Amino acid sequence: MKEKLCLLFLSFLMTLTISAWSGDVTIETPNTMLVLHAREGGDLRMAYYGARVANLQQLRDAGADLNSSALPAFGTVDMVQLPALQVLHADGDLNLELQTTNYSSHAEGNAQVHVFTMQDKLQPIIVRMFYKAYRQVDIIETWTEIENGEKKPVTLKRYDSGHLVLRQGDVWITHMHGNWAAETEPTSEPLTGGVKIIRNTDGTRNAHLDAPEVMVSLDGRPQELTGRTIGAALCWSGNFELRFNTISHKEHHFYAGIDPQSSEYILDPKQKFETPHLALTFSNEGLSGASRNFHRWARTEGMLHRGMKVGDILLNSWEGLYFDIDEARMIQMMDDISKFGGELFVMDDGWFGDKYPRKNDTSSLGDWVVDKNKLPNGLRALTDAARERGIKFGIWIEPENVNTTSELFEQHPEWALQVKGRQLKLGRGGTQLVLDMTNPQVQDFVFKIVDDLLTQNPEIAYIKWDANASIQNFGSLYLPKNRQQNLYVDYHLGLLKTLQRIRAKYPDIVIQDCASGGGRANYGLLPYFDEFWVSDNTDALQRVYIQWGTSLFFPANAMACHINHCPYWNTGGRVIPIKFRCDVAMSGRLGIELQPKDMTDEERQQTSTCMADYKQLRPVVQTGNLYRLLSPYDRKGVASLMYVDDVQQKGVWFVYKVDNYYDQPIPRICLAGLNPDATYTLVEKNVRVGQRPCSLSGKRFTGRFLMEVGIEVPLREEYASRVFSIES
Ligand code: DGJ
Repeated sequence: MKEKLCLLFLSFLMTLTISAWSGDVTIETPNTMLVLHAREGGDLRMAYYGARVANLQQLRDAGADLNSSALPAFGTVDMVQLPALQVLHADGDLNLELQTTNYSSHAEGNAQVHVFTMQDKLQPIIVRMFYKAYRQVDIIETWTEIENGEKKPVTLKRYDSGHLVLRQGDVWITHMHGNWAAETEPTSEPLTGGVKIIRNTDGTRNAHLDAPEVMVSLDGRPQELTGRTIGAALCWSGNFELRFNTISHKEHHFYAGIDPQSSEYILDPKQKFETPHLALTFSNEGLSGASRNFHRWARTEGMLHRGMKVGDILLNSWEGLYFDIDEARMIQMMDDISKFGGELFVMDDGWFGDKYPRKNDTSSLGDWVVDKNKLPNGLRALTDAARERGIKFGIWIEPENVNTTSELFEQHPEWALQVKGRQLKLGRGGTQLVLDMTNPQVQDFVFKIVDDLLTQNPEIAYIKWDANASIQNFGSLYLPKNRQQNLYVDYHLGLLKTLQRIRAKYPDIVIQDCASGGGRANYGLLPYFDEFWVSDNTDALQRVYIQWGTSLFFPANAMACHINHCPYWNTGGRVIPIKFRCDVAMSGRLGIELQPKDMTDEERQQTSTCMADYKQLRPVVQTGNLYRLLSPYDRKGVASLMYVDDVQQKGVWFVYKVDNYYDQPIPRICLAGLNPDATYTLVEKNVRVGQRPCSLSGKRFTGRFLMEVGIEVPLREEYASRVFSIES
């Protein structure tokens, strides 16, 4: 009884002593606006997110709902809304009654950061909500920080990064679903009553099956160039959950954060937990408009190390040789890529292992020393050869993984994720395991792999960082028994820490993010990488589709797109003309992925033409504004997209025939993003070897004509494709 009275008194005292903050805050980017407010003693509320409007009063007059919690907490809001935050306190209490106690704002680079502090009325749990609004690009990042002021550990049962309330209406979402070699298929569907969850639980990679990004179309079925659209990307490389809760078809709540299943995070006293950032955009210009905002943000705000720089044209050895590499073949490949006009050669898997040489995928991961049988003169001979040919040299590693057949595993079996007493579940090659990135010794080891390579071979200019295993053994021998549920999250925090260390020492080396293809195309990792491998499927026809979906959120200079060999095994031996293969790869960061020795003369000639033309077009392709014109998913037989520079003087236009039958109608294509009053000349590029440019080449049109009347592109044969430079 005495204790109860004490507690009551304490809670009364706390309510009195927490200073309350109230007020309205408008957060702005060039074209968007987010309005938040707090009433005295209440939690933070979200009033509006959308186009910039004149003032708050107008919103009020228009009857905007000013009553939706910015971060619905279990115990603060009624349970019709799902919670974005729930904490199990040390004493078993599951509630939070958040009250806004402070607001501050400060400049950070090109952005303004707004910080709202909230505190539970009873327990010393502090929640800070952050909104980072960029001054030159329409992106607002939001995240939270939860601080445990209690005397004992608390459990974060749910800890979303952000929450949005969407207006009533015909709301559709577009999210990416896929698989290995078939990544990022956009799926559009209307939001209907109930809960829709998009989740990935792979553990290490989060973009193969479902990806952590979503577009929300507020004016019905998604359109590329029109319609109010919100884009959201969770900047995280681990398990995630995107959740939509539609209440009686009228009100939609969107939540995004780390997937709490198996990851109810234990927070020690005084510890703070910062959730991943959720990047949000709003555009009146449909899906393409939201994509352009994301691309601009990625390039200008350092989300990609590459920024506005363009990527080199490279040859990667994987699909040409797989594990069958040796010094002579590496040098032959370097010869070929330099003759084509390429700029970089990347030696992929198969170069390492001493006691256990890497002959296939069953051994050697962890043993990052040169296989002297394949490369008797070491990496030095290869970097010398590259320099002599005027190209750069790059190398493949898979640092977070180990094979049980390796010297590393013999020395440090405890470094692999595993559960004592349970049989190991083995991945690729029947021997692959994931290293325990929560362990600082493993973090040091991974750092050292890169550090040793780069200090011993300073001419290495590019690293392909692969990750081909999911977490199948959910257990860490490093984390204490009562912290195992932190594993999924701490793995990625350990990985990020290691990447930060690598980038601090090696800010300029180009690093490709790869995970069995596009398994790690996400904004959680891209601040540390320059580009990513879009897919292990390089079949040009399927790439039209995969690259289309990937471009929803990621810019062209981040997307590695390589010309493959034919017949191609991944699509049952499909043969596609070299011209089409080149044209598809030219719409991203161009490369090749084949054995040049096996190419026909026609293939060699076309590849050289493509590389020469691409060098002229690449600044616009890689750093221009993307307009997706005709979707391959619309089954019109043709897909088309274009890039335009900021001053609307130059563009590059791609057209691909994706279907072929007798009497097929070829749609007239209207361009976009041009200056209606300027006059442009179409010039065909990468013209098919032995043919002349098509009849459109050299013709002049106004921007208005190109955008309003459109063009019928000659596309006769199967796999016909065209690339035009648009010059004013
Ligand atoms: C998976 C990657 O996606 C491929 O490009 C290649 O690097 C292999 N791993 C090598 O094992």
